[in-house]
Parts: sequence; C-alpha cells; structure tokens
Amino acid sequence: MNIYKNSIFILFAHPALQKSRVNKQLIRYVRDIEGVTFHDLYEEYPDFHIHVAREQQLLVKHDIIVFHHPLFWFSVPALLKEWMDLVLEHMWAYGKKGMALKGKKLLSVISTGGRESLYQEKGYNRHTMGEFLYPIAQTARVCGMDYLPPFVVHGTHTITKEEISRHGEDYRKIVTGLRDGTIDLELARTLTKLNSDTDHILTEQEE
Ligand SMILES: Cc1cc2nc3c(=O)[nH]c(=O)nc-3n(C[C@H](O)[C@H](O)[C@H](O)COP(=O)(O)O)c2cc1C
Repeated sequence: MNIYKNSIFILFAHPALQKSRVNKQLIRYVRDIEGVTFHDLYEEYPDFHIHVAREQQLLVKHDIIVFHHPLFWFSVPALLKEWMDLVLEHMWAYGKKGMALKGKKLLSVISTGGRESLYQEKGYNRHTMGEFLYPIAQTARVCGMDYLPPFVVHGTHTITKEEISRHGEDYRKIVTGLRDGTIDLELARTLTKLNSDTDHILTEQEE
C-alpha cells in the first residue's frame, strides 16, 4: 500500500550509462526513495522488445510519471521514443475511450550538453528548452496528463562534480516533494524549469 500522497514512476532512458558523467550520479539521489519506482528502460529492454502490457500496468499504478533522459538531437533517446510509440496506445492512453493516464502528472528530467545560454531565441539553438519539449508536452495533454515545467541540467560537458551533486540534491527534493504533495505547483508553473529555484517552490522542507 502506498502511504504517500503520490506514487512516482521514473522512466529512465540512457543508452550508455557506463559512459555517463551526469545522469549516473543524478539517479543515485532518487532511485531508492520510498514510494518511487525506478525503471531503467535500456536495462529492461536492451533488445528494444518492450513488454507493452507490463509497461501499461506500471503506468496505471503510479500518479506521477517522470521521463528522465539526456537530450539526444533535441529529443528523447530512441528506446524512449519506441516506448512512447508502443505503450501510449490509442483507446488506452488517448482517443474516446483512452483514459488510462487521465489526471496523472508528467515531468521531464533532462540533461543537455549545450549550456543554458544556447537555449534562447537568440542563442545557438534558436529555441528555448520549453519549445524543444513541445512534442512531449502535447503528448501529455493528448493523454489528459498535466505536464509540469521540466527539471533541466545544462552544460554537461563542463559541469563540475559539485554542481552535479547540487543538481542531485535538488532532484531528490523535487521528487520527494512531488511524492508528499509539498510542492507549490501554482508557483512551480510560473518557472521555465522546476530547478531554477527549488527551495522556493517547496512548501515544506524534507527532514
Ligand atoms: C546522440 C547524441 C545526441 C545529442 N544531442 C544533443 C542535443 O541535441 N543537444 C544537447 O544539448 N546535447 C546533446 N547531446 C549531449 C548529451 O545531452 C549529453 O552528452 C548528456 O546530457 C550527458 O549526460 P551523461 O553524462 O549522463 O551521459 C547529445 C549526445 C549524444 C550522444
């Protein structure tokens, strides 16, 4: 039985975790939190043969779904895209009778090689992270889900170990806050990313 306000499902997708600097550390801060199910897609399905019914059962059991992945070509890694294509079925996730995910929340947790300054209208990438995330945000909406502002770690090539740890702490606070319902979501929605002022959006600090 879930004793927490919300159960959290972290759908993690990184095809080369052994080479990871950032995400390998970030997941250490959240994977063992009580009330959180950590699901490593590349570990579960190295051959890309996704067990659709199993994934759907896992989704139904949780209140908040987290897509955690590095940004690959301004999008999700291939296995997460395959997962979306197969698991979010018509008449299950969307369509007239597709109500399975209605009312759940979706959060993107993303790392990018590019620095934050590149993700501006006048920057090298010409668009903000929010704009690059429109396909996921709209997927969530079509499934009747509530898409939260993302948690983003930029500049992974130059980020220091201390900065990674700080992001890890923030990630843990946000996941715990979502689990306990102690995040001011109204305030959070005014931010372009959830971790731009983590302590500000928490209505109670974790112990
Ligand atoms: C195939 C591939 C595509 C990538 N595409 C982007 C991109 O579109 N934008 C960006 O900022 N970084 C991009 N990167 C950099 C990754 O986002 C970065 O290496 C990752 O976030 C680092 O996380 P890690 O240390 O956990 O591997 C790409 C990396 C790879 C391997």
